[in-house]
Amino acid sequence: MRDESPATSVRPRQPEAAAGATAVAHPNIALVKYWGKRDEQLVLPCVDSLSMTLDVFPTTTRVLLAPEAADDQVSLDGAPLAGEPLGRVTAFLELVREWAGRRERAVVDTRNTVPTGAGLASSASGFAALAVAAAAAYGLDLDATALSRLARRGSGSASRSVFGGFAVWHAALDAATPTEADLRSFAEPAPAHGLDPALVIAVVNAGPKSVSSREAMRRTVDTSPLYRPWAISSRDDLSDMRTALARGDLDAVGEIAERNALGMHATMLAARPAVRYLSPPTLTVLDAVLQLRRDGTSAYATMDAGPNVKVLCHRADADRVAQAVRGAAPQARVLVAGPGQGARLLDEAA
Ligand code: PMV
Repeated sequence: MRDESPATSVRPRQPEAAAGATAVAHPNIALVKYWGKRDEQLVLPCVDSLSMTLDVFPTTTRVLLAPEAADDQVSLDGAPLAGEPLGRVTAFLELVREWAGRRERAVVDTRNTVPTGAGLASSASGFAALAVAAAAAYGLDLDATALSRLARRGSGSASRSVFGGFAVWHAALDAATPTEADLRSFAEPAPAHGLDPALVIAVVNAGPKSVSSREAMRRTVDTSPLYRPWAISSRDDLSDMRTALARGDLDAVGEIAERNALGMHATMLAARPAVRYLSPPTLTVLDAVLQLRRDGTSAYATMDAGPNVKVLCHRADADRVAQAVRGAAPQARVLVAGPGQGARLLDEAA
């Protein structure tokens, strides 16, 4: 139905143009981790974090408005979502509708090339792609900051996948109210100079994790005596990391990333009951990384909410590092990623 009222002639509605949109986004790997929320509903983190967006494992999401439908329909790789995963996407679409002042339901089709729920940041690429596609489909004209705030509400780490390269996500801890923090907690590009990095990714287990990152974070914040000390030391990690990136010092970047990740896993191991994502092949790969360093190659490991290891190195060393990682974990899928682009709309006509 076309609305011919004068108000809309100022900014004409174009039902055909706004009815659907497709976006692509890539996962990001944090070099200073986001671990712990201070507000679950607004997804406000307890710490600032900093990541590199990858050029592998894109998620492509199409959002089509369905004015006749009673409910949102969401499919992942062709299979309809139900239960909690569907609830999460529907709650996110509700937020987009609230921002847009619209009511129509949507049909969402997502194609993931990253294993879902395996600590390989599928939620980051997933919600970044969904934020960009849904905002466009519902006619919201958002800048990158607002898109990052929106993506954050789906999954914290998604706020960073809105940007390519390195991105820092502000926790806005000094905000006076949750509303102010909500406005100020977004990611933005982090300056880096003279780096040509690669992340060698060892997928030692592509299966879904036993404890979701959401539950693991909650348990760690609530019960781990190591959580506060780690969160405090992570402030230094972040400022040291920004300096190291700006200087293009890969060894410093890697050392900070590795200590920050090991510290994060220590907080989980001290939670009650413990959350342990690291498995025997994880440790074998960590040993191989130590050996690479002893042999003079700059290589530094980081792990997220899963057993898979990402090894930061100079791009020129990536093949050697990948070979060492393959030798250490012959059953692992090993691939080399570089810095990738931020989330963006795809031109459907193209
Ligand atoms: O965005 P979530 O809820 O999937 O949490 C991701 C948390 C880590 O991957 C472990 C760390 C990070 O900063 O990405």
